[in-house]
Order: sequence, then structure tokens, then C-alpha cells
Amino acid sequence: MEIDVFTLFPQAFAWFERQRHVTNAIARGHRLGYVNYRDHTPLNAGQVDDMPFGGGAGMVLRVDVVEAALRARYGVDPVSLAADRRVVALTPSGRLLDDAFVDELAQEQRLTLLSGRYEGFDQRVLDHFVSDELSIGRYVLAGGELAAMVVCDAVLRKLPGSLGHEHSVLEESFSQALEGAPEYPHYTRPAEHRGWTVPEVLLSGHHAKIREWRREQSRARAASAHPGDTEPTGGPLP
Ligand code: 6GU
Repeated sequence: MEIDVFTLFPQAFAWFERQRHVTNAIARGHRLGYVNYRDHTPLNAGQVDDMPFGGGAGMVLRVDVVEAALRARYGVDPVSLAADRRVVALTPSGRLLDDAFVDELAQEQRLTLLSGRYEGFDQRVLDHFVSDELSIGRYVLAGGELAAMVVCDAVLRKLPGSLGHEHSVLEESFSQALEGAPEYPHYTRPAEHRGWTVPEVLLSGHHAKIREWRREQSRARAASAHPGDTEPTGGPLP
């Protein structure tokens, strides 16, 4: 998979790039690249944003600047890009990222993430260059960089080999194997700490019973979790 992140702050990704699942993915031939809008702006003095028509606070990323950056990277009119690859704009009002959306993106060969800063994008960027608008939650961040890292993190860890233990992605929180429910609780040594014990069944070595217990726990969590959620996390309630 090849991911390009368009951003004004490529240096913000330095820490992220050093994470194990990211270095693993890159060692396996996946690519993570960056394009700085500022390197391609057709305007003077590195200008990339402008005041909104009609007034109001904040600055808006210009459509001509985004177009120049996309053209520089792909060598085509960006209007035709979305036919060839997912071009995802990171915006607070976009489609909420969840496990299914991550799976969708992880199946792509080529992915473009557009980070905005300031008040976001000129609407014409979204109307003409973009296949998806994505949000990581209903709150506003100062820019799309953290959201881009969230997307890259969630997508890259789904790629075969990036975690180093293949089972973990199949049966984890919100996965289809758990019917969309949160994961069951985990315990490790010591088996007792301050009188806090580990559920007996986990020490029993009885794999069928353990599997059954985990399913029950996972379903119970789906039923009781997060009363404030507007969207149900889970699959069918018991
Ligand atoms: Cl993708 N961008 C920004 N700026 N804020 C957000 C977001 C994205 N998702 C949630 N809040």
C-alpha cells in the first residue's frame, strides 16, 4: 500500500514513523510519503491559505494551492484522481472513522490523505478533488495531522505482518469476529495482586470454556458500555 499525506507539517510525523508497526509495514514494501502544500504553492511568500469570503474567523486552505500540490505529486488534473485512488480529506464533519471504514481503507492500493489547517478547506477542494471526507470524532482539532496519524496507525496495523502476530487483528475490539463488540478483558501475571484475582476459567486450560467466557464478556461489554454514545458499538444484544 502507498499512502501520501498532504500537510503543512510533515515534520509532525517523525515520531509516528518510528513506531514498530509502521517500520514493519515499510520494511514490507508499503510506503508512507509526504507532500508539503507550501512546497508547491503558486503564490508568493509560501502563502497557502486565505481569508474566507463573507467574513468570519480563521483562514481557509486555498483550492489553487491544493490543486498545485496534487498535480505536482501525481502529474494529472486532480479532478480525475479520485477515479484511481481514494482521496480522503480530513475534516471534523466527515464520515466517522470506525473499524469498518478502516478495513475499507486498508484494502486500497493507493491512499491520499489531505490535512487541513486553520478553518479547513475551500469547499471546492471537497467538491472536486476528494472521494471521501473523514472525521475521527465529533470535536474540532486545530489541524488534520493528528487525524492523519490516527488513520495511518489504524490502517497500517491491519496490513499483514505489521503487528507480528496475525490473530490479533481478527479478533479484536469492534471486529466482525466479535460481532462489532468491544474486546473481552485480558489478564497476565501475577495471578493475584493485593487479593485481586484472575477469573478461574482463564487458568483452567480449558480452551472451549475460555472462548465461551470471552464471548460472553465481550457481549456484556457491548450491552453496558458508554451510555452517552450516539451510535451503538455493538452487534446484537443478548
Ligand atoms: Cl479529521 N480534522 C480536524 N481538524 N478536526 C477533527 C477531525 C479532523 N476529526 C475530528 N476532529
